Amino acid sequence: MRDINASIPFDKRLWRQDIAGSRAHAAMLGAQGIVEAADAAAIDAGLATIAAEYEAGGVPEDLALEDIHMTVETRLAALIGPAAGRLHTARSRNDQVATSFKLWVRDAIDAIDAGLAAFVAALLTRAEEHAATVMPGFTHLQIAQPVTLGHHLMAYVAMARRDRGRFADARARLNECPLGSAALAGTGFPIDRAATAAALGFARPTANSLDSVSDRDFALEFLSAAALTGLHLSRLAEEIVVWASQPFGFVHLPDAFSTGSSIMPQKRNPDAAELVRGHAGRLIGDLTALLVTMKGLPLAYSKDMQDDKPPVFEAYDLLALSLAAMTGMVETLTFVPDRMATAAGAGFSTATDLADWLVREAQIPFREAHHITGRAVKAAEAAGTGLADLPLVDLQAIDSRIDARVFDVLTVAKSVASRTSFGGTAPDRVRAAIAAARAAA
Ligand code: ARG
Repeated sequence: MRDINASIPFDKRLWRQDIAGSRAHAAMLGAQGIVEAADAAAIDAGLATIAAEYEAGGVPEDLALEDIHMTVETRLAALIGPAAGRLHTARSRNDQVATSFKLWVRDAIDAIDAGLAAFVAALLTRAEEHAATVMPGFTHLQIAQPVTLGHHLMAYVAMARRDRGRFADARARLNECPLGSAALAGTGFPIDRAATAAALGFARPTANSLDSVSDRDFALEFLSAAALTGLHLSRLAEEIVVWASQPFGFVHLPDAFSTGSSIMPQKRNPDAAELVRGHAGRLIGDLTALLVTMKGLPLAYSKDMQDDKPPVFEAYDLLALSLAAMTGMVETLTFVPDRMATAAGAGFSTATDLADWLVREAQIPFREAHHITGRAVKAAEAAGTGLADLPLVDLQAIDSRIDARVFDVLTVAKSVASRTSFGGTAPDRVRAAIAAARAAA
């Protein structure tokens, strides 16, 4: 029983938040005259000492004490004697754990947001550097149309911006204080829930005591935002793995973010990117774990809920590390513009530009232009050249309305420069997007 019941091996991570919650509660008990001022002061001093002890290395642990809450209270009794017993007036471990855990998740959100901000800053720097660097844009991992590397990197800025929005939403919703809900029904003591909520930086107290002690939406929202962020990092990681492969050769990984092989001396493996991709699987697992834990629970608290913390702690650790590693990779990757430019011109990537030119300059309906372009691609394929290298006479043999001006749009650089629509890949658009992202940050 002792072994299955204990959460102290993992929930000691809540020590700061447990002590902060207890200090706010004790101050409120003193201010309301529920506990004598001298006892409230002794409790506060004792809790401050325990915080210093944790800071300096820890407090003795005993599995029989179950969790961080009982560990701190027991330590308090050892330090200040019987007055410690007054701390647990008008509360329960159920509102205590909910409060501590919310405070922890709130801090975790702030730390992840800082990590996301650093990741975005790294992306913006590289996007600016490569606003006009051309690369192939893919659909189905087939070369589709040329794009700029800056535009490609800015796609991840767009994802990170949504991720930050999701964490911010979760933070705003979680910021209500459960303390004072007691075991499940509230309390008869004349507590001041608004005071403890304010002392702990919450916007207000929670509205329903039953919900307060049984709600873990805040943890699930954190895990959900973390899983989605991990998914985005994993997609970038996958691109780095592909780009770093020899057939692509779009990037060169710095030594700091690659590893050698124990038997193949030539290898530079993108292990950090692969682990970011792998960690996303675990992040999704953490979300799934808590969703399934919660789905069958009746109101209010059930001990199953003790299992809420390991997936949240794991998700935080994995995501913080993945963000740091990905930021480091983005900052230090060497892009290989020559390889990207060569690939950008392959696969008749400017075929759409030819079709668009026929529509624009020869007033040909798009569907017919598409058909003419298909014949031009076939001719280039047969000649073993790119579209821009086809002699004008060959193009005119396909359709007499084509003239020499068409070569203005058939190069990769002209293609990307022409895509000036809002949100498009033209270098000027990318620079504007970077400026807008910086202004919004
Ligand atoms: N160790 C518990 C947890 O982490 C604390 C709450 C215990 N409450 C109870 N009624 N047994 O969830």
